[in-house]
Amino acid sequence: MPRSVLVTGGNRGIGLAIARSLAEAGDTVAVTCRTDPPEGLLAVRCDVTDPAQVDEAVTEVERVQGPVEVLVANAGMTKDQLLLRMTEEDFTSVLDTNLTGVFRVVKRAARGMVRARGGRIVLISSAVALRGETGQANYAAAKAGLIGFARSLARELGPRAVTVNVVSPGLTHTAMIAGLSQGRQAAILADTPLGRLARPEEVAAAVRFLASPEAGFITGAVLPVDGGAAMGH
Ligand SMILES: NC(=O)c1ccc[n+]([C@@H]2O[C@H](COP(=O)([O-])OP(=O)(O)OC[C@H]3O[C@@H](n4cnc5c(N)ncnc54)[C@H](OP(=O)(O)O)[C@@H]3O)[C@@H](O)[C@H]2O)c1
Repeated sequence: MPRSVLVTGGNRGIGLAIARSLAEAGDTVAVTCRTDPPEGLLAVRCDVTDPAQVDEAVTEVERVQGPVEVLVANAGMTKDQLLLRMTEEDFTSVLDTNLTGVFRVVKRAARGMVRARGGRIVLISSAVALRGETGQANYAAAKAGLIGFARSLARELGPRAVTVNVVSPGLTHTAMIAGLSQGRQAAILADTPLGRLARPEEVAAAVRFLASPEAGFITGAVLPVDGGAAMGH
């Protein structure tokens, strides 16, 4: 039976790779996007900073393909700045999208999973969450927050057979890293045992596993897909 899947920010980058991978595996996949919808997938407009849009988007997905059984909270953004130049807005906007945005989507979609007594929730964090990164105090704080959030929900929702896990990618070949200087990218790769960027499909493979029936006894886990960059963190 195809499952009803929702991937936030699934119109490009890692989210699109995840959506395509789950669709290939036979699931019925919807994505949220703010701008260009991808071809071949149900796309619903949603800015995760707006609770009303989150509610409308999940309602629409439920109407078209049934209650969400697999949720991948992937939408995220960066606003890099050194601490002394980081404005309050730089900080709160990244937290609002990358952490509170995930709370909004998970809370809304989990309702159906609790009712159905089963489901899969996968959150996309980052290797930066526990390692930290110069210029990314806002982003790292949000991504680290996701881990505590996921582990709390793993406890709350476990009795309803809903698993909650985190995938933690290292530097991945998408538009997001365009703002990172060549020097900074080279320094990160020099500290990565596998010495290269991740491909979005490699992150998608980890998500696909955690979302699969085979991963039914895994919850509260943080799975790095980072070429070894965050080992020990
Ligand atoms: N690339 C990396 O090196 C890397 C490493 C670790 C973790 N990650 C994480 O992986 C996830 C995907 O990143 P990516 O590299 O694929 O970046 P990307 O290509 O920049 O894609 C970001 C996605 O998030 C969506 N998004 C951003 N703000 C949103 C908002 N307020 N409401 C709804 N959607 C929003 C974007 O939608 P629009 O198209 O509408 O802008 C887009 O679909 C993010 O959570 C990111 O933090 C990335």
